[in-house]
Amino acid sequence: MQIHKHQKMKYLNIFFLFVIFNLKVLAQPVYPLIPFPEEVTIGDKLFRISPQTNILAEPKLEQELKYLKSYILENHLFVVNTSAKINNRIVLRLKTDSNSNPEAYQITSNPREIIIEASHPSGIFYGIQTLIQLFPTGKFGSIKIPCVQINDKPNYTWRGMHLDCSRHFFPISFIKKYIDMLAYYKMNSFHWHLTDDQGWRIEIKKYPKLTEIGSVRKGTMIGHYRDQKYDSIAYGGFYTQKEIKEVIEYAQKRHVNIVPEIEMPGHAVAALAAYPEYSCSQKPCEVSIKWGVETNVFCPSEETFAFLEDVLNEIMDLFPGKYIHIGGDEVPKEEWNNSAFCQQLMKEQKLKNAEELQSYFIRRVEKIIQKKGKTMIGWDEILEGGLAPNAVVMSWRGTEGGIAAAKMNHYVIMTPGSHCYFDHYQGKPESEPLAIGGYTPLEKVYQFKVCPDTLNETESKFILGAQGNVWTEYIKTSEQVEYMAMPRMAALAEVLWSQSSKRDYANFLARLKSQEPYLKNKKINYSKTSL
Ligand code: ACM
Repeated sequence: MQIHKHQKMKYLNIFFLFVIFNLKVLAQPVYPLIPFPEEVTIGDKLFRISPQTNILAEPKLEQELKYLKSYILENHLFVVNTSAKINNRIVLRLKTDSNSNPEAYQITSNPREIIIEASHPSGIFYGIQTLIQLFPTGKFGSIKIPCVQINDKPNYTWRGMHLDCSRHFFPISFIKKYIDMLAYYKMNSFHWHLTDDQGWRIEIKKYPKLTEIGSVRKGTMIGHYRDQKYDSIAYGGFYTQKEIKEVIEYAQKRHVNIVPEIEMPGHAVAALAAYPEYSCSQKPCEVSIKWGVETNVFCPSEETFAFLEDVLNEIMDLFPGKYIHIGGDEVPKEEWNNSAFCQQLMKEQKLKNAEELQSYFIRRVEKIIQKKGKTMIGWDEILEGGLAPNAVVMSWRGTEGGIAAAKMNHYVIMTPGSHCYFDHYQGKPESEPLAIGGYTPLEKVYQFKVCPDTLNETESKFILGAQGNVWTEYIKTSEQVEYMAMPRMAALAEVLWSQSSKRDYANFLARLKSQEPYLKNKKINYSKTSL
């Protein structure tokens, strides 16, 4: 085909326009917004935050206002609102729209004004988190951020992270840092695993031996389980109720609910070392020094239930949230099958087998929890022998338990080992620090499908969300917790918040990379394995 000269020019012009347009797109910085908002427009104009910026909020948002002001002071070293001359303002505003999602928010902005609006303080808090993610890293006299228009809301209501503080103990200062990490990624639930075979980590005033005896073990496994090696260094630690209250208050300010876990009837050796009378054999035992599953479990006696009621009442008085996790996983039945007491109890209660006895145990505990108006959560083994009437199921052995529970109209939190166990390796084992096993790289977490296809629309409503679990048999330090949790926590946060149709792993990685200065500045020891 013959192309005339003027036509050639036209094509050339279009070509240059195309190049210029793409250079402009490429030149735009990648903003470290994780999880990515539902609708976002990033304008060319800038808003400057300086001591001449006024931050305003109504009294109901005093906590969020304080949070934003102190964040600016601590991270950028200048105080807002200090000048008589006001240049511009940030307004936090509650809307009277009772139908909207309490965690949803909108940001509208121009160089004179940023308005964050929501129907509830938690939405305002998430708007603030988005704004903070636009801040440059470093200490300046003022900072500039792009004028954005954002309309955002979460996809799931349960966006959680777990931390095992029994196998290894982490100080309050780190728990606060962990909660800050959750808040930054708009996660709203911290599952605090406080008791297990290897240590009881929370003060219970009525039973002081739980911490006097139960919080200390005589040694610890070293290397991998298969090596069967131990040290003989005493290892311990626990949180006082005063410290727990301090953490609860800290978390509340960050719109993070804490779910305490008190393990029963299994994973209870530390409690039984302190009070052996609540086991079936009643024989003295020691706090475990090895990992794994122990056969020594609570006996389903009236004395045990009275003890557990006292313990749970202290826990429920302490933690203001609705949910109490009672474990329920990995309960070997040998002790119960060999116990004359249990055999008699099963006859009396017309229980066919030890699984039904486990179900009887959990139902009794649920009654204790319901008396205080709270809701019980258990690992998916609580399905065995029949589910307690109002239990929420945490599905860890795959998603099957969660599917079964949702089909029975029970609420579910998905936390399958395949995608949500952040104690698994995230890279090739030979180039990673020792871990328990498994292989859960960042991309796999990002591809997690929270709601299985097999559920219909009604059943899907019972899937509250998901949670990443950090079990700490092989995680001795808080730096290593950070390494295992991050960036997988960020990937899960986006899976839970953002619409699945908008997810794009390459785009997520680019945003994560642009977040590296922030992570370094916060001294978060994130893994670079997938970056
Ligand atoms: C579990 O990992 N045993 C819940």
